[in-house]
Amino acid sequence: MKRAYRILCVDDEDFNLDLLEALLKPHGYETLTALNGREALAVLAAKPVDLVLLDINMPVMNGHELCKLLKADPQLSHIPVIMITSLDSKENKMKGMESGAEEFLSKPYDQTELLLRIGNMLRTAEFEGAFDYLILALARAAEANDIDTGNHILRVAEYAALVSRELGQSERFIETIRNQATLHDVGKVHIPSHILKKPGRLTPEEMEEMKQHTVFGAIIIGDHPHLEFGRRIALCHHERWDGTGYPKGLKGEEIPLEARITAICDCYDALRNSRVYKPNYDHDGACRIITVGDDRMRPEHFDPKVMDAFKKLAPQFDELYKKMLDPKEKV
Ligand SMILES: [Fe+2]
Repeated sequence: MKRAYRILCVDDEDFNLDLLEALLKPHGYETLTALNGREALAVLAAKPVDLVLLDINMPVMNGHELCKLLKADPQLSHIPVIMITSLDSKENKMKGMESGAEEFLSKPYDQTELLLRIGNMLRTAEFEGAFDYLILALARAAEANDIDTGNHILRVAEYAALVSRELGQSERFIETIRNQATLHDVGKVHIPSHILKKPGRLTPEEMEEMKQHTVFGAIIIGDHPHLEFGRRIALCHHERWDGTGYPKGLKGEEIPLEARITAICDCYDALRNSRVYKPNYDHDGACRIITVGDDRMRPEHFDPKVMDAFKKLAPQFDELYKKMLDPKEKV
């Protein structure tokens, strides 16, 4: 049997927490409570939570601070947050939106409205969870013909989220790129295995065929508006800032930002990962090739702003690479 939805209520006043528990429990929800942001983080680390009800003004760590941390954590960012505030000010709402909260309710709140919003958000979150899961399943399915690239697609997605945050993108952008950058090579499902697995360099004809994985990727993903990021990333992640990339030879900002970000992340991980046709590099080696260049890669291939972010975040790339290395992958 499916467990009851678990709601974490965060408020510094016991009275408010009691009120929320008394409202939620009779409707079949399991409740957890915390008196401030720090306590809430401890609860979130210990148990899976489906939704957070969050007060803003609390000592130790306030609602905005907690929400920001939560939305920056890949393990927790999917949890919907409703902020309950006694201050119905525009400024508070703006701050809440910046920190990534999905909904707002001002005190004194209408109990029926709160229950309705909770129900709606839980249903939406469940659909989104299934949607994200299917995206990853599709990305994984496309790897069937390819050499085992381990957790490559997951790492690229995490680096891409990291760079997006550094570039000041919205939480929605960060979440979408984290989820949909996994689809960058989905078109490889159409590329014959002997090309994907070929040791040594590809012939010019084989290279032309290989380049088509970008176009195939865009066709597979199609034109659903919720998958726009994924489609643009699949199509444009081999375009280069200086216009020497493929399939269209787009230049500079003609290349969608999400694809410019994914490009550098894909290159870094590919360099670190040992593949049949090339040796792997250590972190410094991979950074050198990206920032200084070699016979194939040039720094001019990358958006200078994305390159600056990469340079700044390089140690975190290394950390993520090590943390997310599949035990089967060669180091
Ligand atoms: Fe690719």
